[in-house]
Amino acid sequence: MKVERIYLFFYGISLICARVNAFDPITTTVAVGIGATLGTIYKYFQEKCSSKWIAFNATGLDVDLEKRLFGQHIATRIISKAVNGFVNNDKPKKPLVLSLHGWTGTGKNFVSKMIAENLYKEGMHSSFVHVFTSELHFPHASQIETYKSQLQQWIKGNVTNCAQSMFIFDEMDKMQPGLIDSIKPYLDYYDRLDGVSYQKAIFIFLSNAGGEKITETALDFWKAGKNREEIKLCDLENALSLSVFNNKKSGLWRTCLIDKNLVDFFVPFLPLEYKHVVQCVLAEMEARDLEPDKGIANQVARDLIYFPKSERVFSATGCKTIISKLDYYY
Ligand SMILES: *[C@@H]1O[C@H](CO)[C@@H](O)[C@H](O)[C@H]1NC(C)=O
Ligand SMILES: *[C@@H]1O[C@H](CO)[C@@H](O)[C@H](O)[C@H]1NC(C)=O
Repeated sequence: MKVERIYLFFYGISLICARVNAFDPITTTVAVGIGATLGTIYKYFQEKCSSKWIAFNATGLDVDLEKRLFGQHIATRIISKAVNGFVNNDKPKKPLVLSLHGWTGTGKNFVSKMIAENLYKEGMHSSFVHVFTSELHFPHASQIETYKSQLQQWIKGNVTNCAQSMFIFDEMDKMQPGLIDSIKPYLDYYDRLDGVSYQKAIFIFLSNAGGEKITETALDFWKAGKNREEIKLCDLENALSLSVFNNKKSGLWRTCLIDKNLVDFFVPFLPLEYKHVVQCVLAEMEARDLEPDKGIANQVARDLIYFPKSERVFSATGCKTIISKLDYYY
């Protein structure tokens, strides 16, 4: 990049000047000038809350969902529509709130990452993307009141800095009931709260809750000899939001987020079958620039545990452990 070369050029000159005579007033003036220029250049490279750093790549997201996420025809469609619709709306009435549900290893984290990567130049490293996990950020049940006000302050502070902030709440099932209720006002249809508008922010909740219901439905389809692509959102949606609402371990238990329909989309992730695991392994090989090897892919997939015990249809860990397994084979 040109600017990088200019940067190096000035840096070189300033080093030479410093060597020649650090105490000569003219050199010092020049050096200070160069310092200021370097500062400006540095700021140019620093991430800012602007369209240079935050620009949605709709094609990128669709390509990622098609090529890197397997066995999730419902999630693929909802995520693409939801994010596109939201980002292309100049004046959204409320922030986008997605609740992703399903068994471990089915792609919930992966999809959040895809959204971040196609919205922020810096992807998950962006200073506008915030991930909260209960174990790391809210570990002690006794401190829930502190956590509540801390979380409110964080969200308010970050959205004040940048309206297009993204908040990912991982392991929602481990969050204490009530914690999430404390951020409810930010998810609602308010133009402004204390002068801050949250309408351009994105909130994503990840949770295993509802996984059993989703698996039950997928298994019913499988037993009936039906194609899993025939499973529709409406086959899952009611069961899902009810089980999430009534499940004490969901983190959304009896929460008013569901009560007031503040969650825009419940996104189910289906349990993965053997063939999807093989696809995951092949994709991972490609991502690592390895020659795709179906033999090894099948071997890795065979090593996993499948459930229910008698039928052995779905991978118990989805595609989660394949990365370490792949390391073992290479
Ligand atoms: C958007 O994503 C596509 C597909 O991944 C990629 O080819 C393209 O370069 C991206 N566009 C921008 C502006 O980053
Ligand atoms: C933004 O959120 C992070 C947590 O991800 C927190 O540490 C930080 O203090 C917040 N920033 C502001 C300005 O509140």
